[in-house]
Amino acid sequence: MGLLDGKTVLVLGVANKFSIGWPVAQALHREGARLVLSYQGDRVERGVRQLAATLPETLVYSCDVGDDGQIDALFAAIAKDAGGIDAVVHSIAYAPTEALDGRYVDTEREAFRVTLEVSAYSFTAVLKRAAPVMAARGGGAAVTLTYLGGERVVPHYNVMGVAKAALEMSVRYLAADLGEDNIRVNAISAGPISTASARAIKGFLEMVHHVGGSAPLRRGITQAEVADTAVYLLSDLARAVTGETLHVDAGYHVMGVV
Ligand SMILES: NC(=O)c1ccc[n+]([C@@H]2O[C@H](COP(=O)([O-])OP(=O)(O)OC[C@H]3O[C@@H](n4cnc5c(N)ncnc54)[C@H](O)[C@@H]3O)[C@@H](O)[C@H]2O)c1
Repeated sequence: MGLLDGKTVLVLGVANKFSIGWPVAQALHREGARLVLSYQGDRVERGVRQLAATLPETLVYSCDVGDDGQIDALFAAIAKDAGGIDAVVHSIAYAPTEALDGRYVDTEREAFRVTLEVSAYSFTAVLKRAAPVMAARGGGAAVTLTYLGGERVVPHYNVMGVAKAALEMSVRYLAADLGEDNIRVNAISAGPISTASARAIKGFLEMVHHVGGSAPLRRGITQAEVADTAVYLLSDLARAVTGETLHVDAGYHVMGVV
């Protein structure tokens, strides 16, 4: 018996095997969920399809969340091919590389717009379409990925921190709106993990080293630990948990002076 038997889960944001979305997808599949994966861009399609082929019955679609038409098309395809979904994992973020270096104060208008749109608004845009589908099935759950840089200043995280703050507040507003339909909305604030997006942040590897030495558990975290938390949040075990940002960071966020 899996914790997600009979559920269909949409996972947005698998680009390669290092993406946090991939071990999350594997863990959801392990617990009995059928998966729908979406990726962005032809460049990663082949690799994503190869990964998906290792999880039987997984459906795969292209979707750039910066385009409402593509999100509509994704949900039309899901309705046709999967008959609906019970849960969503949003594991997407983007900022222009130059915005993740230097000072936040120098952020250009266009870099701010695209970062907030892709990294924060897209979660709301996806849930706007997913909520009626999940409500029609008696309820559902959604999880997004955030980082401590949305709560406190982290060097070089800059406009992505501002986007994560917007994303975390969106989680609370979405939880308030969708709770009456038995839809829960939560965020996982993950400690640093070496992925393509993370390595775009200047000084990332030094940060991993520092966090590992200073966290209460005196270590960093693994993707599997994030994945198991996603399973928990999407399963009945978390049936009274919504609007929450759950830190999976070996306790680093509780430290003052480190
Ligand atoms: N790696 C970390 O240390 C860490 C820590 C905390 C939170 N997170 C968050 O986890 C999430 C996943 O990031 P990751 O580290 O796995 O990196 P990743 O680069 O593997 O994943 C980011 C994903 O966003 C997708 N994406 C970007 N722009 C998109 C668009 N316009 N439309 C559709 N998809 C788009 C990419 O294709 C990719 O699949 C992000 O929200 C990230 O901020 C990461």
